[in-house]
Amino acid sequence: MKNFMYHIPTKIHFGRGAISNLPDSIKEYGNKVLLVYGGGSIKKLGIYDEAVKLMNENGIEFIELSGVEPNPRVETADRGAKLCKEHNVEVVLAIGGGSTMDCAKAIAAGANYDGTIWDFVSGKSKIGKVLPIITIVTLAATGSEMDTSAIITKWETNEKAGLTGPNLRPKVSILDPEYTFSVSKYQTAAGTADIISHVLEVYFNNNPGAFLQSKFCEAVLKTCFKYGHIAYKEPKNYEARANLLWSASWAINGLCTKGAPVGWSVHSMEHELSAYYDITHGVGLAILVPHWLRHMLRKENAYKYAEFGINVLGIDSTLDEMDIANKAIDALSKYLKEMDLPSTLTEVGIDETYFDIMAEKAGKGLANAFIPMNKDDVLAILKASL
Ligand code: NZQ
Ligand code: ZN
Repeated sequence: MKNFMYHIPTKIHFGRGAISNLPDSIKEYGNKVLLVYGGGSIKKLGIYDEAVKLMNENGIEFIELSGVEPNPRVETADRGAKLCKEHNVEVVLAIGGGSTMDCAKAIAAGANYDGTIWDFVSGKSKIGKVLPIITIVTLAATGSEMDTSAIITKWETNEKAGLTGPNLRPKVSILDPEYTFSVSKYQTAAGTADIISHVLEVYFNNNPGAFLQSKFCEAVLKTCFKYGHIAYKEPKNYEARANLLWSASWAINGLCTKGAPVGWSVHSMEHELSAYYDITHGVGLAILVPHWLRHMLRKENAYKYAEFGINVLGIDSTLDEMDIANKAIDALSKYLKEMDLPSTLTEVGIDETYFDIMAEKAGKGLANAFIPMNKDDVLAILKASL
């Protein structure tokens, strides 16, 4: 196990009615809020009205930025940062899924900066003072509510990448599983695939001594495999929604990775797909993950696949390791397909047109992946996914 520092100061209010903690949470950090949300689902669901009522009753002033896109654009975040400066905003409140939360985090970083937020992504500038961020989560998927990253898109140059910093971790996140009852089957499936990918990408690492982290991963994976299908079939099943929501947070808040570092592979590839085709993040991952696993499989590392197959999927442990490995990948594909997720790039309208450039970009940072990968590996995985 490698050395590490672990510090997750996000306060979580979890459960039915958790929004009642909103006013006190805001007041701890200020009284002027920028409320950030997406295409309007929070209005249909009544969450908007509830949040506004609580802020009004408690004398909290707020202005709004609505219309955050899935795969949020840097221009939207820059607009939010401008509003913060014009109105002396003290707290940024996101209500929505990962896109809204990420946009809010980017805004909070840009609120005390004169240039575009993209400068933090490109490395032109370092993140300085960040406004306090509070989130109310409506979709179990990204874990943005408890992590240090915000992923944004610069559509004109087909770039999708992240800004990261300890102060991007929300101060408070409010997680009410009932707020996720209305998530569509499609987004429920995509969100589950996202959580599974977050865990698998770090579960397959080269730190066999980090036994505990591996067991944490298996627990989160088992939870997703158990409850993903239930939530998909019974959207108002509280137990399923609650377990998925909490899994999403723990998948990516450091619990699974601290002491067992490894380069993220599938996310690098998927961000290229989204950057060129604007597809749903979790759908891209669902297509790529089985092919990524298949591409990396060797006799020498089959033991890790066997662990996954036996401990998470319940495959017969007396079988040969390679056999278990292949069965595990097949079982994962089947599981995702049973939620009607696409299994090929062709199904989502992606062909080879940009494969070369996407592989060039994604292949750059994968030297410390489970199996060191380069552009050719990414190309092979993309082609196998067609
Ligand atoms: O726009 P609204 O009205 O909010 O509707 C959204 C959107 O259309 C809808 N939705 C959300 N909650 C709902 C709901 N519809 C009905 N009922 C609800 N309760 O779902 C659609 C998708 O929302 P979005 O926020 O885009 O989904 P998700 O949470 O999957 O976020 C995806 C974004 O997060 C990034 C992805 O790359 C992508 O841009 N990621 C962020 C990460 C991070 N910060 O650490 C890590 C992830 O790996 C990921 O890259
Ligand atoms: Zn993800």
